[in-house]
Amino acid sequence: MVRGCPSQIINLIAQINLVTKPMSALRILVVGNGGREHAIVWRLAQSPTVEHIYVAPGNGGTACSPKVTNVGELSGSPKHFEALKKFALDKKINLVVPGPEQPLVDGISTVFAEIGVPVFGPSAKAAVMEGSKAFSKTFMEKHNIPTARFANFTNYEDAKKHIESVDYKIVLKADGIAAGKGVLIPETKQEALAGLDEIMIQKNFGDAGNEIVIEEFLEGDELSILTISDGYSFFNFPAAQDHKRIGDGDKGLNTGGMGAYAPAPIATPSILKKIDEQIIKPSIDGMRKDGFPMCGILFTGIMLTPQKEPKVLEYNVRFGDPETQTVLPLLSDDTDLAQVMLAAAEHRLDSVELKVKEGQFSTTVVMSAGGYPEAYKKGDTITVKTPIPENSYIFHAGTAEKDGKVVTAGGRVIAATATASTLRSSVDKAYEAVKHVTFEGKYNRQDIAHRAFRDAEGSTKKGVTYAEAGVSVDNGNQLIEVIKAKVKSTARPGADSDLGGFGGLFDLKKSGYPLEDTLLVAATDGVGTKLRVAQIMDIHDTVGIDLVAMNVNDLVVQGAEPLLFLDYFATAKLDIGVAAKFVGGVADGCIQAGCALVGGETSEMPGMYAPGHYDTNGTAVGAVARDRILPQTDKMGPGNVIIGLRSDGVHSNGFSLVRHIIEISDYDYKSVAPWSKSGKTIGEEVLVPTRIYVKQLLPSIRDGDLLGLAHITGGGLVENIPRALPKHLQAEIDMSKWEVPEIFKWFGKQGNVPHEDLLKTFNLGIGMILIVEEEKVEKVMASLKSHNEDPVVIGKLVERKEGPGCVVNVSGLY
Ligand code: AMP
Ligand code: GLY
Repeated sequence: MVRGCPSQIINLIAQINLVTKPMSALRILVVGNGGREHAIVWRLAQSPTVEHIYVAPGNGGTACSPKVTNVGELSGSPKHFEALKKFALDKKINLVVPGPEQPLVDGISTVFAEIGVPVFGPSAKAAVMEGSKAFSKTFMEKHNIPTARFANFTNYEDAKKHIESVDYKIVLKADGIAAGKGVLIPETKQEALAGLDEIMIQKNFGDAGNEIVIEEFLEGDELSILTISDGYSFFNFPAAQDHKRIGDGDKGLNTGGMGAYAPAPIATPSILKKIDEQIIKPSIDGMRKDGFPMCGILFTGIMLTPQKEPKVLEYNVRFGDPETQTVLPLLSDDTDLAQVMLAAAEHRLDSVELKVKEGQFSTTVVMSAGGYPEAYKKGDTITVKTPIPENSYIFHAGTAEKDGKVVTAGGRVIAATATASTLRSSVDKAYEAVKHVTFEGKYNRQDIAHRAFRDAEGSTKKGVTYAEAGVSVDNGNQLIEVIKAKVKSTARPGADSDLGGFGGLFDLKKSGYPLEDTLLVAATDGVGTKLRVAQIMDIHDTVGIDLVAMNVNDLVVQGAEPLLFLDYFATAKLDIGVAAKFVGGVADGCIQAGCALVGGETSEMPGMYAPGHYDTNGTAVGAVARDRILPQTDKMGPGNVIIGLRSDGVHSNGFSLVRHIIEISDYDYKSVAPWSKSGKTIGEEVLVPTRIYVKQLLPSIRDGDLLGLAHITGGGLVENIPRALPKHLQAEIDMSKWEVPEIFKWFGKQGNVPHEDLLKTFNLGIGMILIVEEEKVEKVMASLKSHNEDPVVIGKLVERKEGPGCVVNVSGLY
């Protein structure tokens, strides 16, 4: 056994007054020998309820901590499981804390469960979430947890075909644990095929490569979320960011992690909320429901994409290294980590208090042996000059005690952590502490937390005067980069949809329309106060579809095919994530409508809008052959049939009424919609985008089968249908022909809205109407049905005597 504490190693125990009353005398066995384990032991030793800690095998740092004994001859390898069990019985161990993943995957939890000793760590079954990347991807898919697109393969030929077929950059992942390696990021198809060969044929990662995950490469910033869970409740540590590459600027070979900081400013409250709701909660719940509850630490590696969408890269079932050295010093002084771990192991995490220090940041800088991650030397003496700065800590990793000295014994040797009230000062202080450590060949990165400062300082470096005024040119350019590919995907014959020019060109010759006898039709419209609901709900990827719908539906009622579209987006302070989602929606709408998004304008106008608010407007241009212009009022007559096409909810009209009713009701947008069968919220229900009625109508327009169309927007059926009719005709609508969707009935009842007002405000289930000669009804209906429509004959035209251009026989409203 290694005992004793060499004189040059400082005492790591901060003078912390724990207020928690001792509940039991804990004798803890920690398994592992890294920096992570030293940090865990450091924090556990501060607990007044901890009597003693044994570490198997431990390192030079744990060797000299008070209340701690290294058990050097034992490790977490299965060959030691029996001995560990015996040791635990001998020493009356009453809590086991495995550090690394391997003993967990090998089933160390069961070993101690057999003798009734609680383990802060998952079962072997749950550890498969880390042990098999293919398994965890399938789990994420099953539970709808956002992650990169992927496919799993056990067959080399199938995997090869897949690589040849995909049109995006990929990442190859050997399924099993490959000592932190086993993930390849090829730049070309050729490299990808070579990587596949390395993993599946040459078996460079051994049996870990029996199966392979091929997934989409994600751009963005990584976050490490460490979650303590007992299988039911959970607690997230502050979001950390690791630095995996050996060199400054994230260059060079991958390592175990060269430094970390927390909380990472990119993890804003709204992003953390998303991570909680879309990732952590479904992961914890999913594991329990699938029969392998997560007890211990779930470490979720997340990529925050440029669209600010968090997506899971991987799960680990243990603390991260060096994230643990970063986040444990952020625990509040009165949090008793030992009692927390015991409570989690006993599935009663909600019985203990767990808090972090408010307003504190932490940074860890790892010092490695020269040469790491390739060949490096061991056995060099390490000295630490004391005292180190206040609120800084030294955590050992690859160190050992030898002849009364501490010497290097691994690649990542030792780390310095410091906490402070700003990220900048925690970084500066950590680097101060780094200077106190000396050993031959010591190497550390100089730029830990550089990404945080890039985000904070980047936009002020360029375009100073504009930036000072609150307008960031950088942001605008960054947005263009983010949306470019999406916009490009709307290209169609006649338009390339490349961004960045002064205007969008459209080559009419390529549109298929004859240059003579073709008319251009233009429409412009916005989305109205539906935008406020989107802003309140923080859902921004559908209102762009509404914008396109409002415009192109107005074109198609004139018989025109939409060819091109431009959008305008105005806000006080550009949030790239929000703007990118908005433009993404516009592009989706354009794809649905078959028109090209040829340009747009994003306008940052400080002071013009309230924070978080934005406004938008769109313009569509379409083409129509002269003899197909609608409506053809001169051909209309009594007996013409009115066909209705269904709407998807309220579309983009009636929102002043919707908002008023919600304001005066006991509901808000986040309440579950009482009419919803799928449990959606009121906000989600009313945000369902406006339907685009283009591709289903164009064939009938081209065949000359339609006399008129009306887009049912503000004014409802009663005011929109007459816009397509000659003065001498009247539309008679029979509401018994279709079931008015529950959403309209609910708003009507809730606001006690008179039928007449309801008719003028909402579409009531019909978003577009067609006026068709009786003989053509069958053909038109068949064409609509072939485009997945469910059309319904809702009325007819009659001679107009007195009264309005449209009368409705109200039925089935409420
Ligand atoms: P993993 O072991 O799955 O976390 O992969 C190791 C590292 O590879 C991650 O921390 C990322 O830096 C990178 N990586 C993994 N998957 C992806 C992905 N889909 N896109 C981009 N980078 C990835
Ligand atoms: N810092 C990454 C890991 O612990 O896996």
